Amino acid sequence: MTRRFEGRRALVTGAAGGIGRSTVELLAGEGAQVVGVDLVAGDDVLACDVSDADSVAAAGTAAERLGGLDVLVNVAGVDRFRRFEDLDLATWALHLGVNLTGPMLMSQAALPHLRASRGNIVTIASIAGLRAQPYQAAYCASKSGVIMLMKSLALELAADGIRVNTVCPGGVQTDLPTQAAAEHSGASGAGLDWDLLMETAGARWGFMPPSDIADAVAYLASDAAASVTGAVLSVDRGTAC
Ligand SMILES: NC(=O)c1ccc[n+]([C@@H]2O[C@H](COP(=O)([O-])OP(=O)(O)OC[C@H]3O[C@@H](n4cnc5c(N)ncnc54)[C@H](O)[C@@H]3O)[C@@H](O)[C@H]2O)c1
Repeated sequence: MTRRFEGRRALVTGAAGGIGRSTVELLAGEGAQVVGVDLVAGDDVLACDVSDADSVAAAGTAAERLGGLDVLVNVAGVDRFRRFEDLDLATWALHLGVNLTGPMLMSQAALPHLRASRGNIVTIASIAGLRAQPYQAAYCASKSGVIMLMKSLALELAADGIRVNTVCPGGVQTDLPTQAAAEHSGASGAGLDWDLLMETAGARWGFMPPSDIADAVAYLASDAAASVTGAVLSVDRGTAC
């Protein structure tokens, strides 16, 4: 078996979720020492709210415990369906906080370590950052924002030998789409054009296993992608074409 991450140290956010867990397993299975963080601590997962600067600073001790960092994977994310007229400020702020500010804070905290190791960052955005989806104005704005955030970092950090790349998944079999849908199966879901929502989310092509996304992350984080930075890799069965 290939062991692309032997001797490498990685930090993965959203590690208790579907894509995060799969990414931790893949990197660890190929030799990396991995620390996973998530909103709620669990088995082998440290507590960290990526949208909160103090919490992110506290999680920085995880990197110290590893003795440094070669790879940061920003996976943590939230998604709520809302008609635009029902989009309250708290829901807007939740999306921007977790999906956009989170990767900013985590990347900034990881920077000294990545500079030392000439490491790299891989961030999970979404096809919703490339192609609009209805009832997801906040999600789309946050994901589109994080794509440009990462492209900007790629340019700025190239001189330090730090690569920065983004993966844009289509529909993946995890709790995220299921919970977003469940939240709206009641009265608040009335008036949603479900067919349009599912079509733009890529449901027509079927939801992918989380390991398809972890494979893309591992490629971008590995030496095979040594010349790849500022890339936005869609893993979406062609949905965003
Ligand atoms: N599942 C999909 O269809 C899909 C499609 C495109 C993009 N994505 C993106 O993939 C990423 C992973 O999502 P997933 O599908 O594995 O869903 P998931 O719900 O299984 O995992 C998301 C994880 O993020 C964690 N999280 C939420 N808020 C947090 C916070 N403030 N601090 C730390 N952790 C927090 C959750 O606790 C959860 O464990 C997200 O960024 C999501 O937007 C998912």
